[in-house]
Amino acid sequence: MKQLIEKYNVSVPRYTSYPTMPFWKTEAFQDWETNVKNAPQKRLSLYIHLPYCESLCTFCACHKRITKNHSYEVPYIEAVLKEWKMYVEWMGERPLIEEIHLGGGTPTFFSPENLALLIKGILEWASLPDSYEFSFEGHPNNTTYEHLKVLYDLGFRRVSFGVQDYDPQVQKAIHRIQPFEAVEKVTLAARELGYTSISHDLVFGLPFQNLEGFTETVKKTLSLNPDRLSLYSYAHVPWIKGIGQRGYSEEDLPAGEQKRTLYEMARELYEANGYYEVGMDHFAKANDKMFQAYQEGTLNRNFMGYTTTNSPLLIGLGASAISDVWSAMAQNEKNVEEYLRMVNEGKIPVVKGHLQSEEDLQRRQIIHDIMCKFRAEWPDEFWNEELERQLEELRTDGILQYTPTSLEVTELGKAFIRNVCVVFDAYLRPGQALSKTFSKAI
Ligand SMILES: C[S@@+](CC[C@H](N)C(=O)[O-])C[C@H]1O[C@@H](n2cnc3c(N)ncnc32)[C@H](O)[C@@H]1O
Ligand code: SF4
Repeated sequence: MKQLIEKYNVSVPRYTSYPTMPFWKTEAFQDWETNVKNAPQKRLSLYIHLPYCESLCTFCACHKRITKNHSYEVPYIEAVLKEWKMYVEWMGERPLIEEIHLGGGTPTFFSPENLALLIKGILEWASLPDSYEFSFEGHPNNTTYEHLKVLYDLGFRRVSFGVQDYDPQVQKAIHRIQPFEAVEKVTLAARELGYTSISHDLVFGLPFQNLEGFTETVKKTLSLNPDRLSLYSYAHVPWIKGIGQRGYSEEDLPAGEQKRTLYEMARELYEANGYYEVGMDHFAKANDKMFQAYQEGTLNRNFMGYTTTNSPLLIGLGASAISDVWSAMAQNEKNVEEYLRMVNEGKIPVVKGHLQSEEDLQRRQIIHDIMCKFRAEWPDEFWNEELERQLEELRTDGILQYTPTSLEVTELGKAFIRNVCVVFDAYLRPGQALSKTFSKAI
């Protein structure tokens, strides 16, 4: 295992999209409006990015804006609603919203009243099917009973809480002091209110993390019996502008096999407690929709991560949000002030994009299947000596089995799933130096 980790712990994408964003051809991207208008169906998932956080967690790789000034809330929500209205006008009909996800930053930075204003404003221009999924990311330190209640009343049934790690030394290093009692309180309150899928985010590979402390974190997490668990590999990407990963050095990070041991321990404890690994980083109980979707082969992956809905359109609203209409993808302006300015001038704030070629779409499907099903099939014409050479190497290392038109990842190989996807990425050449583009695979 040690040798495999050394070999495969290289910088590779996480594949929430294909092509991955550094390879988007923005120069050839135009007319986002036509792509949205031409989308055959107006069934959609809505991702709303709420970027503010009161305090900076120094490990965080999300797009966020740190402030304690809550007067930003209303102008931001007004801008998101303006952006939404522009999309609805483009679509020319009332869209059907199958999913809303509030991500961040910290959605619970916003007051319950303002979140209600946002969701009611969105729904004023849309319809809902019989079954829909509304979810949000809650920070345990500032999610109140009112947040949970107001969002529950608006139809939210899924919530994920950022836990990361309970070890005091780790919390100090990542500048996130968050007692177990805070997580316990919000988890129990959400369950009592009737949320049917409560998830906890844990991160392995954080500064000063060790096996003993992280085992405690995993056990404490299991004691609260969440329905789903995310177990993210810490992405060390300090070169990304504005992310602000600081306050510790590379030497403080568990690396290679040491980092992998943290993951293996968590996986063993999760599985012993009735959780199943579904796709990369995610575990779910047998009664959770995510496990059911995985078993039925309907699990989906997009910019929001894994989802159980399969809407043909993903519209991202808010600064830095990403949209995907299958034939094309687009990203909004990341800078919050610039985002507000563009929307207030009546412009859809898209600044980057990529039009998918036929080949892109074929490769996207293969990578999607590897990520969501741990297996994939491809057309005969993909087969060539180079593909065979790379698959044979992965097979020899025990990571997968293959035929000239299909592959299946082994149990061992699940840990190296990003390395399997890379084989089908036409934008990456074997051996290409990507250390300042993507985080490490393990
Ligand atoms: C937007 S935050 C969740 C909501 C809220 N802001 C909070 O912190 O509780 C999204 C999640 O991404 C994960 N995350 C952030 N930075 C990461 C990094 N550098 N590597 C791996 N996971 C990270 C964390 O688990 C975090 O809970
Ligand atoms: S982890 Fe959450 S609260 Fe912390 S900075 Fe990132 S988005 Fe904000």
